[in-house]
Amino acid sequence: MSQGPSRFYLTTPIYYATGEPHIGHAYTTFLADTVARYHRQAGLRVLFLTGTDEHGQKIQEEADGRGMTPIELCDEMAARFEEAWGHLDISYDRFIRTTEAEHVAVVQAFLTRLQERGLIYEDEYSGWYCVHEERYWTSKDLTSEGACPECNRPVREIEEKNYFFRMSRFQEDLVRHLEKNPDWILPQSRQNEVLGFLRQPLSDLSISRPRSRLAWGVPLPFDPEHVTYVWVDALINYVTASGAITPEGEGFDDVSGSWWPADLHIIGKDILTTHAVYWPTLLMGAGLPLPRRILAHGWWVAGETKMSKSMGNVVDPLALEEEFGKDAVRWYLIREMPTGHDASYTPERFLARYEELANILGNLASRVISMIVRYRDGAIPPAPGEGLRAQEDEARRRYREAMEALRVHEAMAAAMDFAREANGYVEQRQPWAQAKEEGRETELDETLATLARALAALTALLFPVMPAKMEELSRGLGLDEPPTLDELGELDLRGRRVEKGAGLFPKKPLEAMGPSSS
Ligand code: MSP
Repeated sequence: MSQGPSRFYLTTPIYYATGEPHIGHAYTTFLADTVARYHRQAGLRVLFLTGTDEHGQKIQEEADGRGMTPIELCDEMAARFEEAWGHLDISYDRFIRTTEAEHVAVVQAFLTRLQERGLIYEDEYSGWYCVHEERYWTSKDLTSEGACPECNRPVREIEEKNYFFRMSRFQEDLVRHLEKNPDWILPQSRQNEVLGFLRQPLSDLSISRPRSRLAWGVPLPFDPEHVTYVWVDALINYVTASGAITPEGEGFDDVSGSWWPADLHIIGKDILTTHAVYWPTLLMGAGLPLPRRILAHGWWVAGETKMSKSMGNVVDPLALEEEFGKDAVRWYLIREMPTGHDASYTPERFLARYEELANILGNLASRVISMIVRYRDGAIPPAPGEGLRAQEDEARRRYREAMEALRVHEAMAAAMDFAREANGYVEQRQPWAQAKEEGRETELDETLATLARALAALTALLFPVMPAKMEELSRGLGLDEPPTLDELGELDLRGRRVEKGAGLFPKKPLEAMGPSSS
């Protein structure tokens, strides 16, 4: 059903159902949405998965603090995420919640499988736990102040009976896999980081908590007095949603007919070890194929420091959505951050990226459509419109190459460069002069047809990142929707009626950025 090159399965992390969606969640999700839309446009069948991570101590404590039950908190937060993604035009196909009965059954089937293969044992655990990261640490992992190395929060000492997964057995296989697949993790620096990590002996992984200390989790199928460690539970969501394993535990020996393996996991760099070490070894243990690629993106920082609630420096570009529109926010986040690296949020850069949209793309669209209305009574002239074909082909080539390599910001830069070239073409051809002088009708037809075609190409290239605005622009060109990259080849715009819109990106003053920027 869904094997072979005609399908593409991609995932975001599932977000903790403890708080509201913020810029970090939004960035990961916009990136995934852009990649999903690109692949759909290329004619692939896509499964785009997102959802919420609903078990574990963090959820339990947040619910306790709010005087709610865990499931009440999760119901509320899952709804909040779905609403936010709907509002921001996230085209996900499946929203998974780890409290769903199907997922709980698949987690149990997965653990049973590991148990049957002799990969689970019981032992005393003593070490440290960070509730915020939901991660176990050893003494030597901790900071010099004895805090969590990832988030700097206090950790708790734990001594208890746990079940362990024999992760150490798969160390060599994982190293071999990384060496054989040098592009398994992007960017390259993250692949190297994981290889570096694997130079130390890999320990076994604690996969359970005693129920007496934490009840909010998936009971172990072979010992109901313990619940599954939340990261193991959470990672398995990717398999659950693929449909590879039935709730009865069938399917481990043949995943064909399901969406597994995933083509791409998109994550933030903070959750690299869980996805690039725990997850593949768990899959090897269960005898399932590994995901084809992992993209670990960077952090949005404010100035030099990571944005986080506890540091009180969270700027919320999502709040700019009301003033500038959702597509401008999507554009800023995707275009500004070199995919895989960190980027710093500043109101000035936001405004600069907005002006790029207004002055280059918005301006081009309104000029071209106005001229077609003024000089040709609103109908796109029946001329070949080949004046920018070479530049368009080059833009498409750069765009495709960058998208395939998941350098999404570069793909968007290629599209915007093409819009700049189209503006240059207007200056060079001077259609207003062609319109005034006798005998230049054919020339003017060609100029306008070329520009209409350039705009249509831009709607195709920019649709994955700005779906609402590009739909609006394509309607302005008399099209029902943006063409796909392949449809562009045979696109016939002759005689289509253009329509002046309200202006795609109205000019905004600096004050629109809010009080912090003035
Ligand atoms: N629940 C786990 C993931 C389990 S996946 C099997 C989790 N959830 S999370 O709610 O903390 O969200 C994680 C995602 O948000 C990560 O990809 C993380 O990198 C991203 N971000 C959170 N803050 C961020 C920034 N300031 N900048 C960019 N992304 C960051 O981890």
